[in-house]
Amino acid sequence: MTFLVNIPNRPLDKLITRLKQDIPENEIEIWPDVKDPDKVEFALVWKHQHGSLKAFKNLKAISSFGAGVDSIISDPDLPKVPICRIVDPDLAVNMAQYVLTMIQHHKLRLPQFNQQQSENLWKPKSPRKGNKVGVLGLGQLGRKTAEVLLNAGFDVSGWSRTLKDIDNVDCYTGDSGFKTLVTNSDYLVCLLPLTDKTHNILNADVFSMMPNHAVLINVARGEHVVDDDLIVALDNQVIDFAYLDVFRQEPLPAEHPFWSSTQIQITPHVSAVTNVETAVTQIVENYYLQQQIKPLKNVIDPSANY
Ligand code: NDP
Ligand code: OXD
Repeated sequence: MTFLVNIPNRPLDKLITRLKQDIPENEIEIWPDVKDPDKVEFALVWKHQHGSLKAFKNLKAISSFGAGVDSIISDPDLPKVPICRIVDPDLAVNMAQYVLTMIQHHKLRLPQFNQQQSENLWKPKSPRKGNKVGVLGLGQLGRKTAEVLLNAGFDVSGWSRTLKDIDNVDCYTGDSGFKTLVTNSDYLVCLLPLTDKTHNILNADVFSMMPNHAVLINVARGEHVVDDDLIVALDNQVIDFAYLDVFRQEPLPAEHPFWSSTQIQITPHVSAVTNVETAVTQIVENYYLQQQIKPLKNVIDPSANY
């Protein structure tokens, strides 16, 4: 049996070294150099080349190397096998801290004071008043983020596909719930998976429903946002500011208008980086569960695609 690593265009030394601690070296192969494709039963995948998994006729399971599975499920030639993903409580804490930091960055007017510092200008101004945060997606990352924000003193609302019951968080679902949350949020955080239903969900119509002082924080996927609509909304003060960690194309192309906007803070997909150590522990556990024909952990719902 072979454990396939199909993660192109990325340094793999650390990952392979860690995998070899738990899986015999002769069982690990790195795409595209696979000696016997028929021996491959388990594939670890991140941003794989679409179509590159269909050669493995005996594939029994796919594991994402991240929390998201969108780049896997969008492969039209994907073998029909269970797909599992990374679920790591530390990742959720990192995400929650990132979101809290971005909100505080805006609330405390740090961009403005940075500008003033560059002009030797002493001009005090109180923190912004907006305290309402709406979190789209209340899964592993969204729920933790909601809890951390609540503990930090924010009024938190959340939106999910199935209605949640979280202490002191106003939970919504459906189109009317989405509208209520978006209309009432000073800070709107996107932590949805990318699916057919959430693609382009943050568009001109939604920006026009948000308060003019509102801030968008997108830490999920670039395809949730209609880029041109966001630029227009910021330029016309339909909304005030955007913190973007994820983009349709990564790295963000040098000519993209997001780079030059003074109303956008860009970070290069760093809000919750997969921890190789904890990820490999989960992946290897699933590899051996699959060998014993036992149920895998953190399998996505194939009907919902996340
Ligand atoms: P989960 O699958 O645990 O949670 C997804 C949440 O979104 C659930 O609450 C789900 O609802 C909700 N949801 C899904 N579809 C809809 C819909 N159509 N309408 C309303 N709500 C919906 O995912 P995670 O929290 O683990 O991760 C979320 C995303 O974050 C990942 O898919 C990935 O794209 C991104 N991510 C980004 C990282 C970064 O570094 N920037 C790092 C890691 C992840 P329900 O609870 O009812 O199922
Ligand atoms: C993930 C990511 O989905 O890093 O894990 O974006």
